[in-house]
Amino acid sequence: MIDRETSEEMVRDEISEENLVKHMLAVEAAMRELANYFDEDEDEWGIAGLLHDLDYERTKDDPDRHALLTVEMLEEKDVDLNDAQLDAIKAHAGHKSPETKMEKAIYAVDPLTGLIVAGALVHPDGIMEMDPEFIHNRYDENSFARSANREAIKSCEKLGFSLEEFFGVVLKGMQNINDELGL
Ligand SMILES: [Fe+2]
Repeated sequence: MIDRETSEEMVRDEISEENLVKHMLAVEAAMRELANYFDEDEDEWGIAGLLHDLDYERTKDDPDRHALLTVEMLEEKDVDLNDAQLDAIKAHAGHKSPETKMEKAIYAVDPLTGLIVAGALVHPDGIMEMDPEFIHNRYDENSFARSANREAIKSCEKLGFSLEEFFGVVLKGMQNINDELGL
């Protein structure tokens, strides 16, 4: 499997928008925390998270190709991801219904990281002082960070989480790398 350093280099070569790079780092960090929670392979889940939006800037005008192009790009570059990771990347964008734990996790994590970033920006003390309840309140405000798909976030229940438990694990993952996120 491709190592994390090379994966991050690929992301930085491909993505010019710094906030999008941070989004991919946030999804990676959350996936690592979730992999640990489920006693799964942290690097496998983390690298799928890190690379999940690799084609984002190329598919802006062609959203139906989002994620499918990432899989093609990875294959072209001979990047060694396993089928479980490639399926997770497809599932995050709805090209496959989320079935495995990794697929369900990335599907629910992707919008939640956006909600947490938006929450951190309005929290008086930033992400390090946020708690799951604060995220839950922002989640309940439908007009807040409207693009963070509440239904996709709620699908964490299919992994056996309550919303607040899920917020806690994903928040912790993002707090772990706040030196990079700067929230
Ligand atoms: Fe994403």
